[in-house]
Amino acid sequence: MDKTAELKKLEGKMRQDKSLQLDTNLVFGEGNPDCNVMFIGEAPGEQEDIQKRPFVGKGGQLLNKMIEKIGWKRQDVYITNIVKRRPPNNRDPLPEEIEVYKPYLTKQIEVINPKIIATLGRFSMNYFNPNLKISRDHGKVFRMNGRLLVPFFHPAAVLRNPNLLDGYGKEFKRLPKIVEKFDELLKSAVPAAPAKNETEKTVPINLPRPF
Ligand code: URA
Repeated sequence: MDKTAELKKLEGKMRQDKSLQLDTNLVFGEGNPDCNVMFIGEAPGEQEDIQKRPFVGKGGQLLNKMIEKIGWKRQDVYITNIVKRRPPNNRDPLPEEIEVYKPYLTKQIEVINPKIIATLGRFSMNYFNPNLKISRDHGKVFRMNGRLLVPFFHPAAVLRNPNLLDGYGKEFKRLPKIVEKFDELLKSAVPAAPAKNETEKTVPINLPRPF
């Protein structure tokens, strides 16, 4: 089965799954299943619930702008969330909500098989490694089970704090090079010293300068 068909099947399975929490529209995700970079946010907001598409509100517009600034198109990447229905009043997703959606996100990642997972915000970053801190680790590159993890601020956080915008653009600008140097980076990922509490699955990479 090709990737598109597999993803359609997975989406259909999610619709049938009554154990999935939240009573809003399913926002499965969209984009190129053959992408190098898969962006993963937190959960749909109001606009996403209405349009049943991820990142289509104000945050999504900023994300589009960042993607276009590096010469890519939104259709080149894949965009989804860890929780695929909107929590009431945009509250933070609960740990049990994240947990019930986990098998579906795991399968979605397995099917798409991206080289790079770019997380948007702390929830999706901490989904992959609870020891990372967004204020410290945004823009860094980590090795994670044969992929690279690059945590970004959530676009809504950047909209709330325009001081972050300049750095945000610079971090996005490194993405094409991270894709280009993927094999090299993956191989060069030798941790200087295993960090205390670092989960085995995530290893930080010191990028060569300039990068
Ligand atoms: N915020 C998210 O985390 N995801 C969306 O899809 C929209 C807003």
